[in-house]
Amino acid sequence: MTPEPKARRGLATRAVHAGVSPAQHLGAASPPIYQTTTFVATDTADLEAINRGEKRGFVYTRQRNPTIMAAEERLAALEEAESVVLFGSGMAAIDAAISAVTRAGDEIISIADIYGGTYRLFSDILPTRGVTVIWCDSLDASALERLITPKTRAIYVESPTNPLVRIVDLAAVAALAKAKGVAMLVDSTLGGPMNQRPLQLGADLVIHSGSKYLNGHGDLIVGAVAGPRKMTRRVRQLQQSVGAIMDPFGAWLFLRGMATYPLRMAQHNATGLAVATFLAGHASVSGVHYPGLATHPQHALAQRQMSGFGGLLSFTVAGDGAAARRVVDGCRLCGIGPSIGGIESLISQPANTSHYSMPPSQRIDRGITDNLIRLSVGIEATQDVIDDLNQALKNV
Ligand SMILES: Cc1ncc(COP(=O)(O)O)c(C=O)c1O
Repeated sequence: MTPEPKARRGLATRAVHAGVSPAQHLGAASPPIYQTTTFVATDTADLEAINRGEKRGFVYTRQRNPTIMAAEERLAALEEAESVVLFGSGMAAIDAAISAVTRAGDEIISIADIYGGTYRLFSDILPTRGVTVIWCDSLDASALERLITPKTRAIYVESPTNPLVRIVDLAAVAALAKAKGVAMLVDSTLGGPMNQRPLQLGADLVIHSGSKYLNGHGDLIVGAVAGPRKMTRRVRQLQQSVGAIMDPFGAWLFLRGMATYPLRMAQHNATGLAVATFLAGHASVSGVHYPGLATHPQHALAQRQMSGFGGLLSFTVAGDGAAARRVVDGCRLCGIGPSIGGIESLISQPANTSHYSMPPSQRIDRGITDNLIRLSVGIEATQDVIDDLNQALKNV
């Protein structure tokens, strides 16, 4: 692949061009899919030279594949990262990032307000490998600092959080991690490289579930770890040892999805803010969580750290859980579903979807009340999304 300028061109240009070079593929504007297990060498000396790294080439897709490399190059250009490793899912990416910075006997500190799947990985699986997770209920750097011990190897955060869309001060946590000599890992799925770039704020590794905004079309599960090569080298080594790669066709879909990511994200940002503003002024809505609103407790931080506020928001209706359920069920355009970051608007009640398995008292303590509704706005016409919510809110 021709190395593309990572940061010099605009994000939208990088999204379209980074990672692919038509001249290398008979002029094909859309890159081919190298849907192959093996690459055949011209002779044994050729194979040996590739294996020794003396010649650029390909041997076996689990190790290297041009289509997967192209997608990695494109995301690296968007994230302004030296290197990206793609995985078959966001969870595989999180697992590899944690495994790259820990050994048995180590501790990591994680904010408690994280994606449910990550919570399960950290609470059920990491302890079986001898890695202890210390949970931090607060998002503040000072609270995280109090939990650091000589065994701490990493601080793990997600920002914005889901579903309350709270913000971690990434620069403050990065400065703490640097001062204490521990790694800082950020799941940036909900922000994405259009809205925030944690590596520039001092994070060591950025993780994405590309299944959300980056691919956007709801037709692919993909994960990524981005960072400086000195950090991603171990991630790559682990990936090749356990085989958690993505497949070439998936990488091609991801290349196509990322090409329109900046356009889609701009629409998510615009509709997110418009819908949040509409809800904040509605008599049947008792509260709105969206970092783009001046009423959000961390609005100033969000303005400093993010260049857009995203398409995820949550709100409480002026009523009980049953009233919230009637609103969700009353939507005609927004689909009832738990995912986020897709082209279609999706609505759900966290109490009976993402946080269903959490004991009610614990859930309510965390602000996930029965009357809380989460909305991931898609890229439909903004007014249609607002109209749909307006008619559904009559059910409160
Ligand atoms: C913030 C966040 N991180 C990670 C994941 C896991 O990603 P995947 O579903 O691609 O494995 C998700 C999935 O919903 C998520 O929302």
